[in-house]
Amino acid sequence: MSQAEYPTPKWREDFPIEQEYDDFITRRDFVRFLGLVSAGLMVGSASVVVSSLTHEEGPFPEVEVTGAGDLKPGAWMVFRYPNEKTPAILIRRENGEYISFLQKCPHLACPVTYHRSDGEEGEHIGCHCHNGKFEIETGQGIQGPPRELRPLRQVVLKRDGDRVIATGLNEIRFA
Ligand code: FES
Repeated sequence: MSQAEYPTPKWREDFPIEQEYDDFITRRDFVRFLGLVSAGLMVGSASVVVSSLTHEEGPFPEVEVTGAGDLKPGAWMVFRYPNEKTPAILIRRENGEYISFLQKCPHLACPVTYHRSDGEEGEHIGCHCHNGKFEIETGQGIQGPPRELRPLRQVVLKRDGDRVIATGLNEIRFA
């Protein structure tokens, strides 16, 4: 049976594009599609970075940390600051002082937790996601991916008798 004797397939009637043009059009469309996707990803990434840098900016409210007076040295708690969506940790250090940071790890935003000194390691803040570790005084990363990143954002506190009041966030510092 010669080629002329084969009937034209149905798909060729539905898509009457010669193969050489078909390749050309598909490649161009594919590149256009890639360009659009890349542009969309760039815009999305930029908006995430901008919102993460700006949504925790002042002016900040003064908020009393409820339950702070009940914390024993070496204990910690979670509260919300500077708004109801943002978790922060209040630590009563082993020496009795209070210190506070936002709970979001600067690596991939896992929640950080306080660790008392256990004999080998001094008290510190840790992130379980990638074994990150932060210095207790400054929130600077000292182990794992956070070493290369900005420190934990510190919550500024003031004391009024037994009351502990959050008054703001320190400036963003880049390592
Ligand atoms: S998210 Fe905290 S170390 Fe990766």
